[in-house]
Amino acid sequence: MRDHPDDLGRDERHRDEAPPPEATTPPEERAPYDPMPHGRPEVGVGPWEGPWPEGPQWDPVLLAEGDRRNVVDRYRYWTLEAVRADLDTRRHDFHVAIENWQHDFNIGTVVRSANAFLAAEVHIVGNRRWNRRGAMVTDRYQHLRHHGSVPDLAADLHARGVALWGVDNLPGSLPLETAALPRRVCFLFGQEGPGLSEQAREACDATFSIAQFGSTRSINASAAAAIAMHTWVVQHADLAGEDAWRG
Ligand SMILES: C[S@@+](CC[C@H](N)C(=O)[O-])C[C@H]1O[C@@H](n2cnc3c(N)ncnc32)[C@H](O)[C@@H]1O
Repeated sequence: MRDHPDDLGRDERHRDEAPPPEATTPPEERAPYDPMPHGRPEVGVGPWEGPWPEGPQWDPVLLAEGDRRNVVDRYRYWTLEAVRADLDTRRHDFHVAIENWQHDFNIGTVVRSANAFLAAEVHIVGNRRWNRRGAMVTDRYQHLRHHGSVPDLAADLHARGVALWGVDNLPGSLPLETAALPRRVCFLFGQEGPGLSEQAREACDATFSIAQFGSTRSINASAAAAIAMHTWVVQHADLAGEDAWRG
């Protein structure tokens, strides 16, 4: 009889092992907020071991129950307010904006990248409601503003000395690969399908495009947003400092 796992054949061993945890944890079993919506439940850390640290940044619920949020190690067990306040001390000078006339599904992932690259603010132009699905709750750590039109957005930014640069593959767009991006700039992205609206094109101080080489006319707006933000990071961010998180 083969009752030791090492005695089992490869396929049999897999069949006899306890099944892996469910890919998605029921909401009631998750950390109090900001959980990973997908993946294994052991993401993050368990309850704090030993005497609890003292300070306003520590969240007693997370210390007691564990912190399963998708946050960098620096913010483990911190309250959401404390994380946001800390981010506020070192946000970058670029903003991102996206037109939202058709509830574009890309907005959530743009917000997530804006958090990762630490944008100053995220601007939604058009409909107030937007599809939060791809944001993975990163919107809670961002400053989001709504504008009814692109001229409203441009007026708000210009009053604060921030240039508005449209991102689209339009005739006359500057090549991103050689453009010197302003330090204080807002990148405005168009929607899947129509791209930047006519009103947006007129309101922008400049537009730039990302070089492509294949057969498709364009890349996904969220992919374009990540490329634009990272180009700003390459040109302006402090990449040598300890705030540049790489895992
Ligand atoms: C899928 S594109 C749609 C429109 C696009 N103008 C076209 O010709 O098909 C949606 C958005 O993604 C961004 N985008 C996609 N590809 C881009 C590129 N190569 N350069 C700059 N932006 C791009 C722009 O913000 C654009 O408005």
